[in-house]
Amino acid sequence: MCGIVGAIADRDVVPVLIEGLKRLEYRGYDSAGIAMVVGDEVRRVRRTGRVAEMEAAAQAEHFSATLGIGHTRWATHGGVTEANAHPHISHGALALVHNGIIENHEAQREKLAALGYVFESQTDTEVIAHLIHHHQQQGLDLLAALQAAVKELTGAYALAVVSKAEPQHLVAARMGCPLLVGLGIGENFVASDVSAILQATRRVIFLEEGDTVDVTRTGVTVFDATDSRVERKVHVSDVSLASLELGPYRHFMQKEIHEQPRAIADTIEAAVDAGGFPATLFGKNAESILRQITGVQILACGTSYYAGLTARYWIEAITGLPCSVEIASEYRYRAAYANPKHLVVTISQSGETLDTMEALKYARSLGHLHTLSICNVPESAIPRASELVCYTRAGAEIGVASTKAFTTQLAALFQLTVVLGRLHGKVSDQEEAQYLEELRHLPGSVQHALNLEPQIAAWAERFALKQNALFLGRGLSYPIALEGALKLKEISYIHAEAYPAGELKHGPLALVDATMPVVFIAPNDRLLEKVKSNMQEVRARGGELFVFADQDSHFSESAGVHVIRTPRHTGVLSPVVHTIPVQLLAYHTALARGTDVDKPRNLAKAVTVE
Ligand code: F6R
Repeated sequence: MCGIVGAIADRDVVPVLIEGLKRLEYRGYDSAGIAMVVGDEVRRVRRTGRVAEMEAAAQAEHFSATLGIGHTRWATHGGVTEANAHPHISHGALALVHNGIIENHEAQREKLAALGYVFESQTDTEVIAHLIHHHQQQGLDLLAALQAAVKELTGAYALAVVSKAEPQHLVAARMGCPLLVGLGIGENFVASDVSAILQATRRVIFLEEGDTVDVTRTGVTVFDATDSRVERKVHVSDVSLASLELGPYRHFMQKEIHEQPRAIADTIEAAVDAGGFPATLFGKNAESILRQITGVQILACGTSYYAGLTARYWIEAITGLPCSVEIASEYRYRAAYANPKHLVVTISQSGETLDTMEALKYARSLGHLHTLSICNVPESAIPRASELVCYTRAGAEIGVASTKAFTTQLAALFQLTVVLGRLHGKVSDQEEAQYLEELRHLPGSVQHALNLEPQIAAWAERFALKQNALFLGRGLSYPIALEGALKLKEISYIHAEAYPAGELKHGPLALVDATMPVVFIAPNDRLLEKVKSNMQEVRARGGELFVFADQDSHFSESAGVHVIRTPRHTGVLSPVVHTIPVQLLAYHTALARGTDVDKPRNLAKAVTVE
């Protein structure tokens, strides 16, 4: 969703801001802008549409400055218009960018209007600009005005502000939305995401909730929520620049699909090196906590939720512990059953998803004692708020549709399952060794599945002509059917639904006719014969079958039945391998339809609002 970048330097920061905004594009946005202090003027350029259009406008005006801020906006309050795009300016004197939502913006607006402030936008953000300006008018310096203003706000924000009254200062504040400071040499930065400033520095300070910061060219001073000066740790980011570049691929999604063997190998590396599944994979104190728990409650959204659904099959079958999985946005608003001894596991690629974060807080308020986060972004909000953490090592995921994050989540959840199974006496040494062996082979099996790309691309040409598709699977393959349908609808805009195959005759069979492609995820497991009966039900109604089977499953093609074989059956890990073909099917279908694969319409990478 929205992204922030700011810079103060003794060189022209406009290229830094624009490059930063381009690095933030993957998060999803619908307008972009920059503002800078030039002499005794605050100058600004904003455009709806792509950063490139805003860049062209900035170039046309020969913008150049040593202090500036930039923003990509994903509309919440107010439509996608230039007037609503950030930065917002107050009285030509101060410019501000904002991520998050201010809940009391209406009351603030009324108060400021009574003081004579005129509003040019429908946003909640503009009130903050005027509020800070108002405090400056009362004699406060920029930082003090920011600190006074944020005390009057309720809601979530990451803010960066520049003022022509203080051209040596860039100030910023954080509450509920991520914000970091980048430390350069003789220049400093602020950003909502480290990728925005990696071109300039890897040394970063992650601001804490309630922090404000005064950034000059040569210094950074952080204050906590009580405005007391505090020291915050300096981190060196290990996000690789290569992960932010497209390389030889056409889209980030394609690149990220192909990175999966490496991403999974990295995620399981510690277990492989340890020759087993030590509880320390989940943190130093994990063993005593994971021994005490008597069940698991998984909370997540979207694709991460489907990873959770897969894990439930593993956890209940392998550990004997009860496991519930719930969509975070539902859980957070219902009077849910809470057993303090059930471990709350949140799954989130970004670590910023608001619903998941709020569900985690809510679970705690209901009495849950122990929490574990599976996350791909180090130091993001959800792992920071969790007791135990396991970072997936997928690397930066830029494509909006999640791919390598999902399969690495599965790898992490499988490891959690075996750790729990061992600690609860359900996994013997021999079984542990066998699971490790299966996991070690996983990157190779995923690579084999990737080699099916040409065959899948040929199917995609036909899918591209369809309006609807059904995805079916049973047991461990049902969540993969859900993931396949989600990927297809997200990036190709074809309506796709997924069902457990056994549910067909309870309703969805009515949809099946000769125009309906039906995808079956059909690994060679104990449910295969049942799945074959479900295929017959579809065929008998004229539906065309597209079957992802295993090499060893003795399946034959016939009229209306197309089969692509993934490598030999990979047992309990088959959902990971069968994810690859459904990702490739969605990708090539979208490619054939000419959609914006990496930035599908209406979607954002990190969903930081409700
Ligand atoms: C689908 C997709 C989304 C995310 C969901 C949760 O391709 O990417 O459904 O999975 O928004 O995001 P995270 O995992 O960042 O919490």
